[in-house]
Amino acid sequence: MLGTLILLWVGFWLLLFLFRTRRPKNFPPGPWPVPIFGNLLQLNLANPIKDLGKLSERYGKVFSLYFGERPAVVLNGLQAMKEAMVIRAVDFAGRPLGMMVTHLGDGKGIVMADYSPSWKEHRRFALMTLRNFGLGKKSLEDRILEEISYVTTLLERSDGKSINPQILFHKAASNIICSILFGNRYEHDDEFLQRLLKIFREITTMVNGPWTMLYDTLPFLKYFQLPFKKTFENMEILKKIAADQIAQHKSTQVPEEPRDFIDCYLDEMEKRGEGFSLFNESQLIILCVELHIAGTDTISNTLLTAYLYLTTHPDVQARCQQEIDAVLGDRAHASFEDRHKMPYVQAMIHEVQRMANIIPLSVFHRTTKDTQLMGYNIPKGTLIIQNLTSVLYEESQWKFPHDFNPSNFLNEQGEFVKPEAFMPFSAGPRMCLGEGLARMELFLFLVTLLRRFQFVWPEDAGLPDYTPVFGVTVSPKPYSMGVRLRCLQTE
Ligand code: HEM
Ligand SMILES: *[C@@H]1O[C@H](CO)[C@@H](O)[C@H](O)[C@H]1NC(C)=O
Ligand SMILES: *[C@@H]1O[C@H](CO)[C@@H](O)[C@H](O)[C@H]1NC(C)=O
Repeated sequence: MLGTLILLWVGFWLLLFLFRTRRPKNFPPGPWPVPIFGNLLQLNLANPIKDLGKLSERYGKVFSLYFGERPAVVLNGLQAMKEAMVIRAVDFAGRPLGMMVTHLGDGKGIVMADYSPSWKEHRRFALMTLRNFGLGKKSLEDRILEEISYVTTLLERSDGKSINPQILFHKAASNIICSILFGNRYEHDDEFLQRLLKIFREITTMVNGPWTMLYDTLPFLKYFQLPFKKTFENMEILKKIAADQIAQHKSTQVPEEPRDFIDCYLDEMEKRGEGFSLFNESQLIILCVELHIAGTDTISNTLLTAYLYLTTHPDVQARCQQEIDAVLGDRAHASFEDRHKMPYVQAMIHEVQRMANIIPLSVFHRTTKDTQLMGYNIPKGTLIIQNLTSVLYEESQWKFPHDFNPSNFLNEQGEFVKPEAFMPFSAGPRMCLGEGLARMELFLFLVTLLRRFQFVWPEDAGLPDYTPVFGVTVSPKPYSMGVRLRCLQTE
């Protein structure tokens, strides 16, 4: 009797083993999954990136693994990335369903929305609106420069001292998004801004943590009162904040005279009429939250990385300052157009972005149909993970793959060139929608601050530690930098 039971039990698991998680034919190779858990038990939840790396050493550039029952394929290297994202573009342009981030966005908005007419039209609308003059009279550039002038004033008070720039950059990045979405920025000690940042921090901490990995692997967990409940509550608070802003805008808006992104969207809704339109307020709410999340940590972590490298590479900093002084002369402020005359500064910024590697695994994709990649078959619905690190540091693609060196973006004549493997924004139809905005922010921030200040690595700070802190967005370890006013440029 007992023997039969054991046999049945073993047989049951064996069946599960063979049928539930059998690799499809000609699927990329990978470790053997166990039922229900997939390869979860083989990964260190606190830092899965490290363990995944070992798998790529063993199985090659394109390999597979299972998150629970969910098959996933990891892409390494420029060749695989290009074939998937650029050549087979649409086949790889979906987003996973049923993961925590998908549930948070309700399938609406852009970032986590699956490949669909709604995604496509919202993406097109957002791209148009985030162009320099897409937001009405006050240009994107003006909004960014306005925030930078406040940052400059705050930094001037720290002349001769050392500061940890983390919170300052975080607030500045968040404020620029507030100005774009809501039409106004906030003082850095404003309660609303502080509250906003606290909620964002809580959400990112959770999304980066092991609970999210468990949630995504074992979907039944969502019915339990586990710590990720808090994330959904936080999301509701953010949605409420956006909804309040939208209500305020509706009562003060002048049609066709937009003050900000929300006004532009309300105009677009009006234009499209009611009924079957894909544009409505619940979409706008998610869009506001998404743009805020996508545009804050990314920018502030890149800036933090920039100043970490600039303080520890004073030669690079000095050369940038020389170029900036020469191009700007006694003009009041920089403009984004000036980048064409500043090849070295451009190279420095791109090199910072390469080293910063802010979103190492991009945002997960999903195949929208049965397709192929590097000779393998990949069925519709497979989760796709892009290893952007593998491209940004690929040894065959860079002159100095592992060092911070702006020469990676300069040719023999000292002109700025951008290698194909520069992919911090990913590539293809899902490529970062905020690239233009991000590049404008980074350029104006770095040029304005480097013109006014010298940043130094404090003598008592020990050796710099470039090891990043793991997360969905990666950041450098906290550090302090010395701030010194430079002599006035006009002297
Ligand atoms: C240095 C700054 C930034 C970096 C490195 C970055 C990087 C990325 C990456 C890697 C993706 C995923 C692309 C993919 O799935 O293939 C992405 C998507 C996205 N980013 Fe950014 N981003 C940055 C700044 C911004 C900013 C400032 C905004 C706008 C407010 C923004 C908005 C978005 C949106 C809306 C998406 C989703 C696009 C889609 O799914 O169609 N990003 N970004
Ligand atoms: C991504 O690529 C980097 C560099 O090639 C490697 O060290 C890392 O382990 C890879 N990670 C994954 C998930 O394949
Ligand atoms: C808003 O539009 C989406 C499709 O874009 C639709 O699924 C949703 O039900 C609409 N919501 C409201 C409140 O009309």
